[in-house]
Amino acid sequence: MHVETQIVQTQASSYPIMIGEAMLDHLEEWIAPYCAGQKVFIVTDETVAPLYLNAVQHAFKKTGKVVYHSILPAGEATKSFAAFQALSEEILAILPDRKTTLVALGGGVIGDLTGFAASVLVRGVPFIQIPTTLLAQVDSSVGGKTAINCDAGKNLIGSFYQPVAVFMDVATLETLPMRELLAGYGEVIKYGLLGDVAFYEKLLENAPCLLQRDKSYLCEIIRHCCQMKAEIVAEDEKEQGKRALLNLGHTFAHAIEKHLHYDGRILHGEAVALGCLMAMSLSENISQGEIERLKAHYGEIGLPCQLSEIDATVTWNAKMLTNYCYQDKKALDGKLTFIMLKEIGEATVSNSIQRGVVEKIFTQYA
Ligand SMILES: NC(=O)c1ccc[n+]([C@@H]2O[C@H](COP(=O)([O-])OP(=O)(O)OC[C@H]3O[C@@H](n4cnc5c(N)ncnc54)[C@H](O)[C@@H]3O)[C@@H](O)[C@H]2O)c1
Repeated sequence: MHVETQIVQTQASSYPIMIGEAMLDHLEEWIAPYCAGQKVFIVTDETVAPLYLNAVQHAFKKTGKVVYHSILPAGEATKSFAAFQALSEEILAILPDRKTTLVALGGGVIGDLTGFAASVLVRGVPFIQIPTTLLAQVDSSVGGKTAINCDAGKNLIGSFYQPVAVFMDVATLETLPMRELLAGYGEVIKYGLLGDVAFYEKLLENAPCLLQRDKSYLCEIIRHCCQMKAEIVAEDEKEQGKRALLNLGHTFAHAIEKHLHYDGRILHGEAVALGCLMAMSLSENISQGEIERLKAHYGEIGLPCQLSEIDATVTWNAKMLTNYCYQDKKALDGKLTFIMLKEIGEATVSNSIQRGVVEKIFTQYA
């Protein structure tokens, strides 16, 4: 079995991302060096548990660990204060010590919640990420952002806390619903647009490989995104500079998600995909022809190009959507922060976008 290892190097830590096919069938071969304590606590959700929990439990047991687990409801609501409290009580009940390892088995929701719990329980325990969605494999499991949501907004309670290792089995994407796969692909497109024109062109040319879930193609795009993210995180772990570029499309995306009350009508990655189109429209140097090319690609694979495609019954009020942009945690001193494109493959941060311009974009995409 071919497994590729990439290293994420931050100031305080260094950890491997291992990417391969059918890794979960042989996980015991890889985990031992990253799991010093006797106890392991696996966190997963109700959809992922019947598919992959047995294999992961088995692997840790084979390495001599005492294995506990918790199965949480699937979906964004699990990134709540209440779920965090309940999970914390469950973990504390096994009397963890500083070497007890938490394992996040699932998508970004499980990864963000488990990572946050790991960062604060007994003042920090090690955690391993085993991401099972495309979004989690290309983005959320790498880089150490952890968070839960609260009434004031998404991801407002969180920490920067790096995992000790990340194991990605591309075979887990076989069971992922197509809509979730495409949502994760929204983040993949983002990487191409912000930092690598050749990668972007490759994505646009290979829609059939994506739709057929060609494993070697998926492995290749995951590796590429992880490498880009690892390089950016190594340079700027705490988002003081370059890491902000990874927010391409996100100010628009968060406004759209907030408008729909995070109720599942739009998935985060779908909102990012649409937000990337809007960011292109905001960028003076990007031609309408380029935007139409990405829209055609979205049309081919089944990602939305307009807000009305998400829900035609919603009033997509541009003023209200723009107000949500001002509530984004990236808005500093009342100024909007947008990631813009200088050209395809090169992004920059702008704090000088006027309100009227943003409203116009939302109107254009209504
Ligand atoms: N920490 C970060 O840097 C970062 C970056 C991007 C997004 N996020 C967060 O990630 C979350 C979204 O992550 P997500 O898109 O993975 O959502 P998710 O975790 O809700 O997973 C999506 C759905 O797919 C199911 N699922 C997961 N793996 C599966 C598999 N292999 N087969 C079948 N079903 C499977 C889940 O049960 C869930 O219903 C958001 O909360 C977002 O804020 C975090």
